[in-house]
Amino acid sequence: MPDAVATLRLPPRMHFGYGARAQLPEAIHIHGRRVLAVLDPFLLRSPLYGETTDALTAAGLELRVYSDITPELPVDTLDAAGATAREYGADVILAIGGGSTLDAAKLIALLATHDGPLSRYYGENLVPGPVLPIVAVPTTAGTGSEVTPVAVVTDPARELKVGISSPFLVPAAAIVDPEYTLGSPATVTAYAGIDALVHAIESYTARPLDITWPGTLPVFTGRNALIESIALQAARHLGPWLPVAVRQPDDRQARAEVAMGALLGGMAFGSTGTHLCHALQYPIGALTKTPHGLGTGLMLPYVMDVLRQDNDVAERLTALSTALEGIPVVTRAAEINREIGIPATLAEIGVGREQLPQIADLALGSARLLAISPVTPTRDLLLDILQRAHTGQLTEERTA
Ligand SMILES: NC(=O)c1ccc[n+]([C@@H]2O[C@H](COP(=O)([O-])OP(=O)(O)OC[C@H]3O[C@@H](n4cnc5c(N)ncnc54)[C@H](O)[C@@H]3O)[C@@H](O)[C@H]2O)c1
Ligand SMILES: [Fe+2]
Repeated sequence: MPDAVATLRLPPRMHFGYGARAQLPEAIHIHGRRVLAVLDPFLLRSPLYGETTDALTAAGLELRVYSDITPELPVDTLDAAGATAREYGADVILAIGGGSTLDAAKLIALLATHDGPLSRYYGENLVPGPVLPIVAVPTTAGTGSEVTPVAVVTDPARELKVGISSPFLVPAAAIVDPEYTLGSPATVTAYAGIDALVHAIESYTARPLDITWPGTLPVFTGRNALIESIALQAARHLGPWLPVAVRQPDDRQARAEVAMGALLGGMAFGSTGTHLCHALQYPIGALTKTPHGLGTGLMLPYVMDVLRQDNDVAERLTALSTALEGIPVVTRAAEINREIGIPATLAEIGVGREQLPQIADLALGSARLLAISPVTPTRDLLLDILQRAHTGQLTEERTA
């Protein structure tokens, strides 16, 4: 592959496994002593809260806790937190929580270092320089935000959620201890976990961007030789284990497998980007007020069913199906959705047939996501996918 280019931008430190939280004091100390701890509100009621904060103070760190995280992350709720980080003189941000909390921490780190409003930074590569270092600890297994360069917010002035993507938002450390995910409710586990599988599959099927140096390197590079085995490995962990983690929330092995799959999925898509399931989920989520992973998961079989008409995608899906226990991707994705309670059709989540053109038009606005679609994303292609997803129409798939 003489013309291949590849890029990885990841936290310099990653620790994974039950007990990995023991690395927190060291991972934080590297950056200073004054810690703004951005904590998911659920954590304040968990025994892990006292254990974690005690360990940090015993290690000589000074903590201020911020846990005023509003679901969906309305953009104006973050300004005050940014001001708190500045006024406190935080050296480092510790973020423990679901994707919303980790994303909030990224944006607080940004506002602590650079002037707002956040809308200045919507889009790609607009963050002007380093932000406060972030030590990220996920408590859901899905978004991969602990390793990715993006944070997503809701801005009432915009129809869809918006992303701020910059290599400067990649955390300084990711500490993934599945212990934190043990109490997460079945729906959160299902939605976050299926989103991780979508990350792996979209990352692996992304089209290569035409990157030449010198020139500005996009945040998301499209197909990327450095993540190929990472994406496949993510699918290998998630395929068999996500349904178990949803069915048996106390199964420690299932929780660890899904946490590993989510981490690997984040490493993969954080470099390549994601494409059509995500482009379509943004308008679907906005119209139906359904969670991110419910929408990306619902769309996954339909998007891949249409894209696999392309030979190159079909080849990539064959490799992915080997990672999914030899079951073809579309079939397995639909099965997993059934097993974990993701609705099978857009009609089931209240989307009217007459809304499909509007969804397609809004999705066409997601230039960054469409740029790495493996098949040219015309309005007709998106409408075809949406119509199939509306009625639950999947084509027959031969075993790989
Ligand atoms: N930055 C990225 O790379 C990226 C990628 C995908 C999605 N996202 C964003 O992440 C958000 C979704 O994140 P999420 O799926 O992790 O959910 P979330 O962070 O919104 O959390 C969902 C709910 O679960 C609770 N919760 C979290 N962990 C828990 C636990 N261990 N036990 C009990 N309750 C727990 C939270 O308090 C919250 O009420 C969306 O806003 C999405 O846009 C970001
Ligand atoms: Fe996602």
